[in-house]
Amino acid sequence: MTRQRENYREDVAGRANVEDTPELLAYYDELERFDAGALWTVANKIEPWEPQSTSKPVIWRYADLRAHVLRSVDLVTPEKAGRRVIYLNNPGRQDVSAAVGWLYSGLQVMHPGEVASAHRHSATAVRFIIEGRGAYTVVDGHKMTLGANDFVLTPNGTWHEHGVAEDGSPCIWQDGLDIPLMNALEANFYEVHPDLNQAVAHPVDDMTKTWGNAGLLPSGGDWDKAYSPMYKYEWAPTYDALQKYAAVTDGSPFDGVMMEYVNPHSGGPVTQTMGASMQMLRPGERTKAHRHTGSYLYHVTKGAGHSIINGTRFDWKEHDIFCVPSWAWHEHANASDREDACLFCLNDLPVMRSLGIYREQAFGENGGHQPV
Ligand SMILES: [Fe+2]
Ligand SMILES: [Fe+2]
Repeated sequence: MTRQRENYREDVAGRANVEDTPELLAYYDELERFDAGALWTVANKIEPWEPQSTSKPVIWRYADLRAHVLRSVDLVTPEKAGRRVIYLNNPGRQDVSAAVGWLYSGLQVMHPGEVASAHRHSATAVRFIIEGRGAYTVVDGHKMTLGANDFVLTPNGTWHEHGVAEDGSPCIWQDGLDIPLMNALEANFYEVHPDLNQAVAHPVDDMTKTWGNAGLLPSGGDWDKAYSPMYKYEWAPTYDALQKYAAVTDGSPFDGVMMEYVNPHSGGPVTQTMGASMQMLRPGERTKAHRHTGSYLYHVTKGAGHSIINGTRFDWKEHDIFCVPSWAWHEHANASDREDACLFCLNDLPVMRSLGIYREQAFGENGGHQPV
């Protein structure tokens, strides 16, 4: 929207437009003494014409952060730090420690033989594995082995702990949590497991082997939780699904070939607050720009390319992380004419959709591309 139009809209009837006078300023001071205020002094700010995200579009390059993440191993132990994590601190969201919107994210590192004690919290967590051998997570007694680009859930209220096997290698993964949202809702509880570690009560990887079979669900399999019983989505079948789908679809002009991780029992999102998708940009593909409500954190899973977010170009390659704030224009391009590029995306779409506040708009000018 042009500046001129914005000015016009600020002047239209029905919007607050009261000039300060000495009498009014004194009146506001009086109201403040009673913990009250005049709505017209804040109305235009708290009721914008359209979403005004304070999040900045940011890219966190893995090449910049990796050495710093590894250095934390020499500086703190997991016991002392609780979790050894370097978090992504959006310059517009430092007050709530968010990477974008109401989503928190960080890079966690563990060395072979290390174990982080079990806990649970109201916040829902996911992790996306970057590198290393031997990492595992235990969720409510279900142990999962973790490999590169696997996507793992530790939904709200579940006991969870992580570790790396003695014969593994240093492991780094990306954590994503709805901590800022839980804190905004003032509903965040946190509890340490009474035994510090859980007993593994089921065969390793049983939830993925039970619920993660294409087109098949366990006969009589019952599940009454609001999150997915499939705690781990492995990379190999995910990439295989994308390739198969790409062979038979034109894809979306805005997203290329995109598939959503779902709860196999309900068909809905993987957790109540956070959803995730994996999208493929085919060789040479460049998407058109659009924008939508919700906050988005992309993790480059494969390949290299760039995204244009609100007119700024961000070049990315494998394991870089970048964010698209709510209602920001964005488009993506694969840099290669031979290889595909894949983007994992963590988002708060389940919140947008369940509250009925999801909105989408295509960029109309310039053949659907933003000026950079
Ligand atoms: Fe946790
Ligand atoms: Fe989009």
